[in-house]
Amino acid sequence: MSKGKLQKFAEMETFKNVFQHPFSVISDTPFDMKGHWREQYFHNDNPIVLELGCGKGEYTVGLARVYPDINFIGVDIKGARIYTGAKQALEEGLENVAFLRTSIEIIDRFFGENEVQEIWLTFSDPQMKNVHKRLTSTFFMERYRRFLVDGGIVHLKTDSNFLFTYTTYMVDVNHLPVLFRTEDLYGNELTEQGRADNQMDDKTHEILGIHTYYENQWIERGLNIKYMKFRLPAEGALVEPDVEIELDDYRSYKRPKRSGLATSK
Ligand SMILES: C[S@@+](CC[C@H](N)C(=O)[O-])C[C@H]1O[C@@H](n2cnc3c(N)ncnc32)[C@H](O)[C@@H]1O
Repeated sequence: MSKGKLQKFAEMETFKNVFQHPFSVISDTPFDMKGHWREQYFHNDNPIVLELGCGKGEYTVGLARVYPDINFIGVDIKGARIYTGAKQALEEGLENVAFLRTSIEIIDRFFGENEVQEIWLTFSDPQMKNVHKRLTSTFFMERYRRFLVDGGIVHLKTDSNFLFTYTTYMVDVNHLPVLFRTEDLYGNELTEQGRADNQMDDKTHEILGIHTYYENQWIERGLNIKYMKFRLPAEGALVEPDVEIELDDYRSYKRPKRSGLATSK
């Protein structure tokens, strides 16, 4: 590990807004604050919103500035990335922010039933070859149901055609209510005309305009940014969509090709 990273990790140990449990699977230690984030950390009754795969936490911090009466928790396995958002929140005195360093696969160990109102998925890896790791798969939807309120909202902001198409099918086949969907956020919806057409309020405009670290890289390469939000009801069997989706070819940029396939489920 580089010296810079070691310093960040050491400093982060002193941050009151960071909870680190990267090895919870191995140690199988119960998390004391599960079901008690409001009383024990935020000291209020406000709703809780998660950003899963938050990286440097642009959405966690950006949303917290816009909505002081909502609590935001960024989750990522990479400590050096979380450090950026956590430090910024501390410096700005944002009391409605926390970060959890852990693996999203075990996210339900950290939140109790109905403890969370909304989930943001920001530029998640599309996991084109492995649906079980895809954060909008029904496998993850079932996991989110363990702590999300009935009809809680899931937001997906992505550059990936593959992930967006897959999620559209997943939502359709399961009849999940879609609240908003666009394949070109900056080309249409956030323009003055787009705002007027969608009757978009100032806060929605402001939060959809937050750019994350990865988002900026995709914008620089000329890719459309896509966004949708949908509700996840607590009841009802969920089925995986049975469709072949074209892979994002640009994702093999500077990486060895893992297979010759052009599509995947
Ligand atoms: C492509 S980056 C996007 C980061 C940030 N949301 C952004 O837009 O800049 C994906 C992030 O998800 C995190 N991540 C991916 N899979 C994860 C998992 N299973 N558990 C925890 N974090 C994960 C990675 O560490 C990485 O920071």
